[in-house]
Amino acid sequence: MTDGTAVPTGSFPDGFTWGVATSAYQIEGAVRADGRGESIWDRFSHTPGRTANGENGDVACDHYHRYPADVQLMRELNVGAYRFSVAWPRILPDGTGAVNQAGLDFYERLIEEVLEAGLEPYVTLYHWDLPQVLDDAGGWLDRRTVEAFADYTDVLTRRLGDRVTRWITINEPWVVAFLGYGIGIHAPGHRSMTEALQAGHHALLAHGRAMPIIRSNVPNARAGITLNLNHTYPLDPDRDADEEAARNADIVANRWFLDPVFGQGYPEDLPAILGGTEPTILDGDMAAIAAPTDFLGINFYTPGYASASVQAAPGAMLHPDPNVERTAMGWPVEPRALTDLLLRVTNDYGPTAIYITENGAAFEGDRVVAGRVSDPRRTAYFEGHLGAMATAIDAGAPVRGYFAWSMMDNFEWAEGYGKRFGIVHTDYATQERTIKDSGRYFAQVAELNRLP
Ligand code: FCB
Repeated sequence: MTDGTAVPTGSFPDGFTWGVATSAYQIEGAVRADGRGESIWDRFSHTPGRTANGENGDVACDHYHRYPADVQLMRELNVGAYRFSVAWPRILPDGTGAVNQAGLDFYERLIEEVLEAGLEPYVTLYHWDLPQVLDDAGGWLDRRTVEAFADYTDVLTRRLGDRVTRWITINEPWVVAFLGYGIGIHAPGHRSMTEALQAGHHALLAHGRAMPIIRSNVPNARAGITLNLNHTYPLDPDRDADEEAARNADIVANRWFLDPVFGQGYPEDLPAILGGTEPTILDGDMAAIAAPTDFLGINFYTPGYASASVQAAPGAMLHPDPNVERTAMGWPVEPRALTDLLLRVTNDYGPTAIYITENGAAFEGDRVVAGRVSDPRRTAYFEGHLGAMATAIDAGAPVRGYFAWSMMDNFEWAEGYGKRFGIVHTDYATQERTIKDSGRYFAQVAELNRLP
């Protein structure tokens, strides 16, 4: 462990990739345009009581129509890469079968724009907007969804693989499984840990099935999966029971997905710790899931503290320091956890390369005043975490790139529009964008390839 106070060199390796990230349902809007089918997030957000103020992604940032201007903004941010996701129901409105050419055309136009601007596209295949028809047939609980995902991957990589080499299969299978099927705060809103285990297995299997398809359709493909990871600590490091709680929390938060992706199978006691029964696993599944990847994507926001005695309120994150800074999500700000996480993943799993595919923070109080948004806490968050990443790189973590979450304020799932993660401000009434001060800071980092 590091104490987080070490002063990193502050400069990053040559060729380091700086990017910004978004996802389809959070920014595109235009949910009925050009033959797009319904997704589980359309259904979920239109179900009363599921999202803050009943908000939904019907319009969001209207990126579907405004993408050229948004890509120009990315140039102003000096980034060399743009990570976005494709909405499966735009490509295959019925989940599988008939291809909607108009949906493919949209992503082709977007990619042309991104390439012309001199940015490299990083495409996420699945960022949670499952076609509703597939959910009606069982969703991630049903193995046929894995086959449908393989078909979707094939369609997309055949059409775009001559221009896109960077592919991310699944974004955060933990969220798909745990929030979607375990505690139900995300679509499709189920509440069963047994289901979470099965859904998680199928999401991993979808990743594993997609990897060879990407490789066969895309010359020079560089592909991997993105996991959200929380480095876990005991709340009281002097208590054995808290050490044990941290070990269990690590199994649920990290090892559930890291172990199988890196060929180690599931942690033996996972179902017991989670409180569910073993998922159905067929012969060959674990080998498919362990398909070699070119990189591991890591989304990092906050550490996890575990205690044997202190029960966190639902959705709250424990922390030993009552005065620790917290974001608008209630997430403690603790950059050293990123250093610890990166070194742990490097030592325990030996990934060839790591990309931070998301990192960022929501804070209250972003306001446009005379064409500027002053957001010093977000800038400090980036500064702290970029420093923590530099420390890990200096100590040997193979981090090759970093994507700020998010390129602009957007629809934050169950939290609706109230939580602003953007380095660009979105005025939802006018769709006007304003680069925040944190965005200007990030643009400087990207230009200099070091901390200013
Ligand atoms: C991650 C998601 C992303 C965004 C951030 C805040 O879990 O991948 O879409 O919601 O959290």
